Amino acid sequence: MKISKITIGCDHAGYELKCKVIEHLKERGIEPIDVGTHSTASCDYPAIAHAVCKNIQDGVTELGILICGTGIGMSMAANKHRGIRAAACSDTFSARLTRTHNDANILCFGERVVGMGLALDLVDNFIDADFEGGKHQRRVDMITAIETEEMKNG
Ligand code: RB5
Repeated sequence: MKISKITIGCDHAGYELKCKVIEHLKERGIEPIDVGTHSTASCDYPAIAHAVCKNIQDGVTELGILICGTGIGMSMAANKHRGIRAAACSDTFSARLTRTHNDANILCFGERVVGMGLALDLVDNFIDADFEGGKHQRRVDMITAIETEEMKNG
């Protein structure tokens, strides 16, 4: 997808890697909108996931990146938000396919899981892929229908 900016956030366990990803995005001419955290001091990942999701829900950016120790807590928190499809990935095939098939709007990964080289490849695969629509749109619509029904019952 051709994007000019992307929202990015991390907790303390993802801070060092987030700094590298931000540099990489800038080199690619993509403006990173950094919602924190801004140091390795301990913080709670759900708050950061919420901030990234709000930016996407508000239309500030179409896509987001969340980094924690594993990428898992961030994805769990992000997927509680309406309209958010967050994928925790640690291989480039999944990072690409979660855009082309799942129309994921947030990529999550873990600084304690992936190295810097792989992390930057995950980002590139995610950003450069486009949703294919068609039968995949029908399945994404089914996810949205489940979300709507669950919220109504909640
Ligand atoms: C922080 O210690 C760690 O639990 C967090 O970064 C993340 O990996 C949670 O899923």
